[in-house]
Amino acid sequence: MCPLYLHNTMDEDLKNKYDSLKSMGLNIDLTRGRPASDQLDLSDEMLSIVPPSHTEEGIDIRNYGHPLGIKQARVLASSLLGSEYETTAVCEQSSLLICYQTVLAMYLMGKPKAWKDINKPSFICPTPGFDRHFRILEDFEIDTICVPFQEDGIDLIALERALKSERNVVGGIFVPRHSNPTGHTYSDSNIKQLLALFKQHAKDSICIFDHAYMFHDFDTTIKQSSLWGLAVDAGMEDKTIIMSSFSKITFGGGGISYFAAGKQLFDMVINQRGGMMVCPDKINQMRHCMFFNDKEALLGHMDQHAAILKPKFDLVINMLENLDPKLGSFSKPTGGYFVSFDTAKGLAKRTVSICKELGLLLTPAGSTYPNFDDPNDSNIRLAPTAATIKEIKTSMQIFEVALTIAYLEAN
Ligand SMILES: Cc1ncc(COP(=O)(O)O)c(C=O)c1O
Repeated sequence: MCPLYLHNTMDEDLKNKYDSLKSMGLNIDLTRGRPASDQLDLSDEMLSIVPPSHTEEGIDIRNYGHPLGIKQARVLASSLLGSEYETTAVCEQSSLLICYQTVLAMYLMGKPKAWKDINKPSFICPTPGFDRHFRILEDFEIDTICVPFQEDGIDLIALERALKSERNVVGGIFVPRHSNPTGHTYSDSNIKQLLALFKQHAKDSICIFDHAYMFHDFDTTIKQSSLWGLAVDAGMEDKTIIMSSFSKITFGGGGISYFAAGKQLFDMVINQRGGMMVCPDKINQMRHCMFFNDKEALLGHMDQHAAILKPKFDLVINMLENLDPKLGSFSKPTGGYFVSFDTAKGLAKRTVSICKELGLLLTPAGSTYPNFDDPNDSNIRLAPTAATIKEIKTSMQIFEVALTIAYLEAN
């Protein structure tokens, strides 16, 4: 059924656009940040690598053992993070799993106090943010304190206020480069001040840095120093964990993940993981190390990803720039996997629902806030990477029609 608004309006142009899009019977999915097939093709060669059965040190990679990962992979990971080899581990395919294991470890046996023994623990979450981070915190009934962004990272004034709020803050979770979905990249100065504020006001809390998009620039982006180096300089290494993965470098769900942390936290997470699995897939680790000899090789590979992604993001931004500004505003990311659109207040759910009627699936409105509760019903995450240029063009036409109808209905 077409929106009632269209029955009552004299706007023939809008009616025609709606009807013509509807008649196309489309089914386009922009819900999640997935690599496109041609991005996955870039790593196909890795599948024909037959790794040797043993590492140089004589470890049989086909067998159990070595829960911290093989040496080559740990050397590569510590070169990517700028972290110490001893407290850098390489795991299986998911950095989100490492994130979950970190929260679980702290919940069960955190020091100085397990989070399960803390009355109503809470977490700092920059918003809009990543739905699966919120999901982890919800699983442990950890309250979320939403903190907005400033241009170069988290809003430091709001962060300080939150840390001083006496709400038993036990940690914060940040995506420091091309944040999901807003695309914010934190400056060194912002990260230094963030760490200093945690140290000053919440010294037992941990900072989780989910560096999912560390190498995912498709346009010029500010340089960041090694996050690990900044944590060490701030005297916060014991309270810091940084994780990342190759999910959007080689294969979604088929890469390798890795993390670095201060010794106590590192041991705690490794111990937690030990209760879940004997060891990660060392064959896949070896294959990745043979495909990427070093950081330079990886950066060259990421340039090829960027060449595929940039035209898609350019198209989204160009089409959004042609929208009437009263409909909303949007991020202009220089990397990562998303464009974040803020509609005029109260239009996000309705816009997403009209898009669905027209055959365009978007991430459900509200997903970018804890408990699906966007206080302004305004944020919509657009994930254009897996779609073709043609699909993106049509998607943005649908988005404009849907947003315009939602706006006119409300005004
Ligand atoms: C911020 C962020 N972290 C983690 C992930 C998932 O990473 P992985 O595949 O390594 O679990 C994503 C994927 O969308 C993400 O956007």
